[in-house]
Parts: sequence; structure tokens; C-alpha cells
Amino acid sequence: METLGVALGDRSYPIHIGSGLLDRMDLIQPHIKQKKVVVVTNTTVAPLYLDRLQRTLESGRIAVLPVILPDGEQFKTWETLNLVFDALLGARCERGTTLVALGGGVIGDMGGFAASCYQRGMPFIQVPTTLLSQVDSSVGGKTAINHPLGKNMIGAFYQPQLVLADISTLNTLPERELKAGLAEVIKYGLIRDIEFFAWLEANLEKLLDRDPVALTYAIHRSCANKAEVVAADEKEMGERALLNLGHTFGHAIETGMGYGEWLHGEAVSAGTLIAAELSHQLGWLDANAVKRVEQIFVRAGLPVFGPRLGSARYLELMSHDKKVQDGKLRLVLLQEIGRAVVSDQANDRQIGVAIEARCT
Ligand code: NAD
Ligand code: GLY
Repeated sequence: METLGVALGDRSYPIHIGSGLLDRMDLIQPHIKQKKVVVVTNTTVAPLYLDRLQRTLESGRIAVLPVILPDGEQFKTWETLNLVFDALLGARCERGTTLVALGGGVIGDMGGFAASCYQRGMPFIQVPTTLLSQVDSSVGGKTAINHPLGKNMIGAFYQPQLVLADISTLNTLPERELKAGLAEVIKYGLIRDIEFFAWLEANLEKLLDRDPVALTYAIHRSCANKAEVVAADEKEMGERALLNLGHTFGHAIETGMGYGEWLHGEAVSAGTLIAAELSHQLGWLDANAVKRVEQIFVRAGLPVFGPRLGSARYLELMSHDKKVQDGKLRLVLLQEIGRAVVSDQANDRQIGVAIEARCT
């Protein structure tokens, strides 16, 4: 097992990464204050891992209240969130009861948001079970639900007490979901870690083959990058925005196509290529570098062209982005591989040209 930390003063927490961690009560126990926990999960993950986690918790004499939500990005809504509140209130959960989110990023984001609101904040633990959630969404305290007008528009910054990433859960992950997770892994290399990018170019097939050593390394390095950024800029006043490379375009794809149609990682992949194209147009990223970016996403089996929604529709959807400031769109662009910037330099016409060039 490997452990790293997110340094946020008295809200600091560990991230444990390894195989078989769902069975490790010794890692969970110190973070639970009461004799009851709520495990929020979904209809896909519950049959796979709920029993196991429940047995572990019960071995520490902790009673488990499971809350099993419908599975899918289209259920990341107020209605589903209310099911969690109904269960918490129905079982008389207290402010000190811990909520454990067992699942991918959808469960982690919704469980975390529920925890941030319930009685103005209850402790919560992330047990991420997808590659995407192990490298990104479980770390850093962004929690949210979607709105029909925009992704992750309603939410809160609310940090977990612990992240327990059991890499053996990735063995049951569908191929398409594994690939989607790689989009966020590649992101760290592109925005701030060129050495890691080169490592990914050399080791991508090992990750696709689910080699545990390679996966542990990639998850650890991704989390280390994220932890550093979050520790420096928890509430996204500056540097943290770089973690959104490809996301402004990607969120437009997810919202525009209907939640769940494109996976988040797939939309981020196509969105990153639009960002790379725009960076090239602005004279920052040379053609070889754009090719290199495209190659790694192609090798990961991810889309490198977005859907043809029309640039006007993209721009309309993107106008809801959380990085918009005084009505002006700010985008994460690449100055070179390993160095991203937040920029408002591109005008709508230039953005439209990049979108049209990168959509089929
Ligand atoms: P997801 O949560 O929808 O999980 C993908 C699918 O895999 C689901 O069907 C899920 O039930 C299933 N699944 C989960 N674990 C499994 C396992 N071990 N075996 C088999 N199936 C399993 O999607 P995701 O890619 O994990 O997360 C995407 C979400 O994360 C998006 O809503 C996105 O907005 C959010 N996100 C949040 C942050 C953040 O910082 N909070 C960062 C990135 C993404
Ligand atoms: N995934 C973007 C962030 O956590 O800031």
C-alpha cells in the first residue's frame, strides 16, 4: 500500500492506494466517530463491493445503513440527492454520523455534496472504485450535482476525511470506463508533469492491461499532482483551474449530448484536443506537439474529435462555465506539453474555428 496526504491544515487527510484495502478496518476505523455509518453506492457497485465493505465495517462493530442509488450520470440530480437525505433522516443519522461514498465519481460527487449539506456538514469518506475517481474526483473536495443547463453547477467544496483507493476494484471495471479514466491521468502529464507524460507514453499498454504495478504508480502520481494543486489552491482562485484542461469543451459535450451519452473522460479527451488545436492557433503549441497529444489519446482508445453540435451551440453551453469571469470565457490552454495556462486571449471566432476543426 502507498499513502500520500492532502495538506489542508486541520482538514488534511490521507489517500491510501493499494490492493485489498476494502478489507482494511485498521485504515477506516480511526476516521469514524460513531457506531453507525451510511454507505452511499449504486445498483452496479452494490452487488460487487457493498457486502465486502459492510463486513469490514461490521468487524469493527459499526452498523451500516446502505443507500443504493440508481446508476448513471443522468441521475446526478436533486431528485437522487433527496433519496440520500430521505435515508439519512429516516434513520435518524446525526451530524457526527459518517457518510461513505462507495463508487465512481458520480457517487463520490453526490455523496460528498449530501455530506456537505446534511445538518450543515457530516464527516465523509471516499472509497472510489473507478480509475477516474481514484485519480481525480475522490481527491480535492469538489462535490456537485448537474443542472439541465450545466454540469456540476450546484455543489460545494467539502473535503473527505479519508480516500481509500482499492485498485483491485478496477478488475471489474468495464473497458470503456477504464479508458475514460485514462483521460484524467493523461491530463496531469499535460498540465504540469512532462516526466509523467513521457512515462505514460512508454507505459500506456500496461495501464490498458490493468497491470497493478503500473496502475498503482499512475494513480499515486496523479493523486500526488492533484494533492499539490489542491493544497495550494483549494477553492480554485488560481492554479486549480488548470485541472480543468479540456473540461470547458468537455462539459459542453456532456450537457449538449445529454448526460451519460458521452462519458466524462471521453468528453475531456475530445475537449483536450480542441484546447490543443486552439493553443496551436494561438502560436503556443507546435504541430508536432498537437500530434503527440492526439497520439496518446488515440492509443488510450479515446475520442479525439467532438460531436458536431455546431460552434454556436458549444459557445452557448460554454457560457455557463464556472471559469467565466465578468461574462468573459477563460480557457485552460497549453503553452507546451507539461505547461498549461488559464487564458482569456482567444476570441469567439478563434474558439469557433478550433471547435469546427476538431468536431466530426
Ligand atoms: P461513474 O461514477 O458514472 O462510474 C462509471 C461506471 O462504472 C458506472 O456505471 C459505475 O456504476 C460503474 N462502476 C464503478 N465502479 C465500478 C467497478 N469497480 N466495477 C464495475 N463497475 C463500476 O463515472 P466516473 O468516471 O467514475 O466519474 C465521472 C463523474 O466524476 C462525473 O460526474 C464527473 O463530473 C465527476 N468528476 C468529478 C471530479 C471532482 O473533482 N469532483 C473530477 C472529475 C470528474
Ligand atoms: N477535477 C477538477 C478539480 O478537482 O479541480
